Amino acid sequence: MTEDLNQMRDHMLTAIAAASGLDALDACRVEALGKQGTITALLKTLGKMTPEERLVQGPQIQGLREAVANGIAERKATLERAALDARLASETLDMTLPADATPAGTIHPVSQVMDELAEIFADLGFAVATGPEIETDWHNFTALNIPETHPARAMHDTFYLQQGIDAKTAGTADEKTTFSLLRTHTSPVQIRTMLSQKPPIRIIAPGRTYRSDSDATHTPMFHQVEGLVIDKGITLGHLKWTLETFVKAFFERDDIVLRLRPSYFPFTEPSVEIDVGYTLVKGKRVVGGAEPDGWLEILGSGMVHRKVIEACGLDPDEWQGFAFGCGIDRLAMLKYGMDDLRPFFDGDIRWLKHYGFSSLDVPTLSGGVGA
Ligand code: DAH
Repeated sequence: MTEDLNQMRDHMLTAIAAASGLDALDACRVEALGKQGTITALLKTLGKMTPEERLVQGPQIQGLREAVANGIAERKATLERAALDARLASETLDMTLPADATPAGTIHPVSQVMDELAEIFADLGFAVATGPEIETDWHNFTALNIPETHPARAMHDTFYLQQGIDAKTAGTADEKTTFSLLRTHTSPVQIRTMLSQKPPIRIIAPGRTYRSDSDATHTPMFHQVEGLVIDKGITLGHLKWTLETFVKAFFERDDIVLRLRPSYFPFTEPSVEIDVGYTLVKGKRVVGGAEPDGWLEILGSGMVHRKVIEACGLDPDEWQGFAFGCGIDRLAMLKYGMDDLRPFFDGDIRWLKHYGFSSLDVPTLSGGVGA
């Protein structure tokens, strides 16, 4: 029997080595390991053997199966490599030739909304600021009044790249310079801006943010826009007027009703969550309407906490301000009527053709910021 198995193995391995293409190789696989395959049939005989026979035959048949499976995998890799080499050798691309088609892509709704935000806030005197997507613990948390033991750290589902601060580095220079995580919000740009610019400050900071979260309305990478105003004598009234003006301009209608709800964020005091009223149009929620049918939460905001201003080396008795943070993808969904976030990042050209914007459709306040 052992002799037979050896012969069978040699025979099969020879056929595998001789397989000239992936189809021929697959035929070998089916013949040996497929449902009706020779080795499969042998494996089935194990059940009918006595325990003593099985003890001898089992390892031999399994050994045969393994040798043949390995042989197939190796041959497959060789054939695939050869096919790729042949393709690489035969396909050349002359990058100096003119394009033979007009570009098929469109402006992604997220890019469009970011441009709309920049346009709206530029009109209110805000500059656009940026910060790194790989952040330090200190900028993402500590300076925003979220110390190491704060429960908000757990709430953020942070992607850590390496061990963040610990008892040894807490409070040392390392804490501010060790880039150890993917930023969970755009709020660290507040810190970077206050550290690098003298007030008065008026900025928005749109960009990518990351959290370990995934369903129809959450993706591991998403977009936020942060707003920050630091000046003298800033009050909640300035915050309310600014956000109302922004939401009206963004949704391009005046019958917008905002609801300010007391909330909590470590970096603002007081903190308010902003809801916008919607009306039901053919069963769909549409932002706007003087008499709302319900409310949609659109952003978090508040007066910048004294401790945050202090952490940036400013005197909170001299400088005050407000801040807000808002999900850009959600704004796009509400304005342009998508109900699933995941296709935003699938890169499917059909989705982009449907929801995307012409590159000539640059948002301007005079021409309209929308489509
Ligand atoms: N960073 C908060 C978050 O991601 C959002 C936020 C809330 C930002 C209040 C702010 C703010 O600037 O004042 O959940």
